[in-house]
Amino acid sequence: MRTNRRWYRYAGLTIAAVLATALPGTATAADNPVPAGASKAHDQKILARVDAQRAVEHVRVLSEDIGPRPGGTEWEWEGARYIGSTLESYGYSVEYQTFAVANQYIGHMTLPDGTTWMTGASTRGAFTDDAPVTGGLVDAGTGLAAEYPADVTGKIVLMTAGSSAAARNTQATLAVNRGAVGMLLINTAGARGAKAGANNPSLSVDVAVPVLGVGQAHGEWLRERLAAGETDLTIRNKVHSNLESVNVIATRPAQTPAPGDPVVVVGAHLDSVVGAPGANDDASGVGLGLELARVMKSYNTDKELRFAFWGSEERGLLGARHYVNQLSDAEANRIVAMFQADMVATSHLGATHFYAMTNDGRTNVVTDAAVAAGARQGDSSVLPGHFGSSDHVPFAQRGIPAALFIWMHVASWSPLVYEIERIYHTPEDTIALNISPERMQIALNIVGAAVFDVARKPVPALDQQPEPVLVP
Ligand code: BES
Ligand code: ZN
Repeated sequence: MRTNRRWYRYAGLTIAAVLATALPGTATAADNPVPAGASKAHDQKILARVDAQRAVEHVRVLSEDIGPRPGGTEWEWEGARYIGSTLESYGYSVEYQTFAVANQYIGHMTLPDGTTWMTGASTRGAFTDDAPVTGGLVDAGTGLAAEYPADVTGKIVLMTAGSSAAARNTQATLAVNRGAVGMLLINTAGARGAKAGANNPSLSVDVAVPVLGVGQAHGEWLRERLAAGETDLTIRNKVHSNLESVNVIATRPAQTPAPGDPVVVVGAHLDSVVGAPGANDDASGVGLGLELARVMKSYNTDKELRFAFWGSEERGLLGARHYVNQLSDAEANRIVAMFQADMVATSHLGATHFYAMTNDGRTNVVTDAAVAAGARQGDSSVLPGHFGSSDHVPFAQRGIPAALFIWMHVASWSPLVYEIERIYHTPEDTIALNISPERMQIALNIVGAAVFDVARKPVPALDQQPEPVLVP
């Protein structure tokens, strides 16, 4: 890993040096389209400076120092403040755009060594608020009476969640009757074929003790601790209400600013799902956005640049939708391209390609710029594709050319068969298990070159753009 990373960085510099000598004469502003050689020269302005290590440092702060960042919570705000102050340190003016979001039901569990994990919480359990409950942890297997240890009075019981609400009701009733002071239900159903995350277990009865929903990995880790001996556990849970979520937006005006200047938006979401550190989803996109913001601050472009970090994407694309909804038609028309970076650095090797995905499966100025940047860099892993599910969607729905950048393997488009990392939306979405600096560098090189290309070249009006190609 370490050797590779060094190889990559030095290789980047070597290629830069080779290209610098091989390039033809300087292009003039009148050249349109800009010759390929001139684009490569422009690419080098980005490639020579964007640094995956800096981007991964942002991922570290977000996923490790702050941890899971559910939309609207104090942890999402910590992420927002980190992003905002980083952008200010680069010289940007930063706007915090807030919007109301629904309550979050969240738990935490703490081991005697201080290790703390965020969990989901059933809406029907009791809430400790700020008065945590401590008890010895016991494993009740699948939660059937026969699997119970003899005495669970005053204990916290761990069990694999039943597969229906009725089954979970029975599990909870039994735990309370046996005197447990809290219960942990290990979720079993993950999203998109992944392991189960720390979701809220749904129950249809009220339960007198806190009921936390823990991820499959949490279950494994707790059972490992138990196998090594007894352990106490401290749990707490709380309804987080009156929540406001936030978009953080940094603006860099065009070289000679004029009203109505065209705008290029680079986006990523700053929130994660409950209990997931969200290193790849989507601290990776934030790290990429911050690193591009740093490098691009010093380059003039004829378009305005906006680096946008969306809140509450995981709660239904709420931040991006809020942003798009408050744009007047005139403001929306100014946006000529939107690049969304979401899951741009997974170390999962099964995710073989770096896709520029559009919501309607048709190529546009964003996907064209990305594929062209890949071609100039000799990288054939960059492909256009067809996918929604991220913040490019509200932009596309407003008629703005937009695409999602993501590492994935697509085996078939129709029916859609694809592969991403199995630890998507789980407590294991960490730097150690899910981030590749090499992939981050490729993402920076491709998205950076494509953004710079679009931001500095004239973009034809929508009705004069090349005929879109249907991807699949
Ligand atoms: N990064 C994911 C989207 C994604 C995952 C795209 C895997 C392609 C493959 C994103 O953060 C996400 O999970 N989105 C939600 C959107 C929903 C809440 C509208 C999703 O897809 O469940
Ligand atoms: Zn995401």
